[in-house]
Amino acid sequence: MKSGLQQEQASGTAETKRNSFMCFWASSMDRIYNWRVAQSMIFGQPLIFDMSYEKDMSVREVTNAVRQIVLSESCNRRSVDPFHIHFCNFKDNSLYQKEFVKHYREAWGKLLITVTDQCYTEVFPKDKLIYLTADSPKVMKTFDHDKIYIVGSMVDKSIKPGLSLARAKRLGLETAALPLDKYLLWNTGAKNLTLDQMMHILLTLKDTGDWKKALEFVPKRKYCGFVSKPSLFGRTKPNFSTLPKEPPALRTFV
Ligand SMILES: C[S@@+](CC[C@H](N)C(=O)[O-])C[C@H]1O[C@@H](n2cnc3c(N)ncnc32)[C@H](O)[C@@H]1O
Repeated sequence: MKSGLQQEQASGTAETKRNSFMCFWASSMDRIYNWRVAQSMIFGQPLIFDMSYEKDMSVREVTNAVRQIVLSESCNRRSVDPFHIHFCNFKDNSLYQKEFVKHYREAWGKLLITVTDQCYTEVFPKDKLIYLTADSPKVMKTFDHDKIYIVGSMVDKSIKPGLSLARAKRLGLETAALPLDKYLLWNTGAKNLTLDQMMHILLTLKDTGDWKKALEFVPKRKYCGFVSKPSLFGRTKPNFSTLPKEPPALRTFV
């Protein structure tokens, strides 16, 4: 029989083994993630974050935008087939940069992403670019693996509609909105999603092409269910096939 001290020592050893296994596991996973994201920098589909909105945001909004981009980068890094993230229009000594350095510290310079002060129109052919914006009159039908999507790195608490649409139009770029009305029974409220929600949706679309799966990342409070059969016109129509063919017999109440 083991004494109390022996039992304590045994459970201490088991705990140490578990901890070193977890450390080994975490560092192995980290290596796999880094390998995948490094591959994406050579072969992956680019995804652009447009960093030209600092002047349109309060300091608090920039802080929030950076927090959402950090979440986006982390979920991209952990995905099976990551995007090659580009931060375009990125200025040294900008508030964006200061916030990134606060989050990442010394890792900031080692991130496996492309950071440039150039505009995407100088880096990629214009006809490949699609600016995603909730205000676009054009609704996205399918995810195109050959296109390069742009997301506006913006958080607008006091919603400023049309900002990214205006920018895309000025640059003569194609635009697209997510097909939220086509698939979701939307409650009232703006259709602007956060940057990390956009990243989850785009990664899921890239991997599966399945809108229903992708739109699971829209917060549940924003909609009250999925449209049973998405309409071709992007509008929610009642499903008449589920209604009774004849009106129910009138009931008389005595
Ligand atoms: C918080 S939104 C910014 C909303 C802002 N008023 C604007 O002018 O775009 C941040 C970015 O996420 C993307 N986004 C958010 N919701 C979207 C949607 N429903 N469809 C397409 N893109 C969307 C857009 O790229 C947008 O610029």
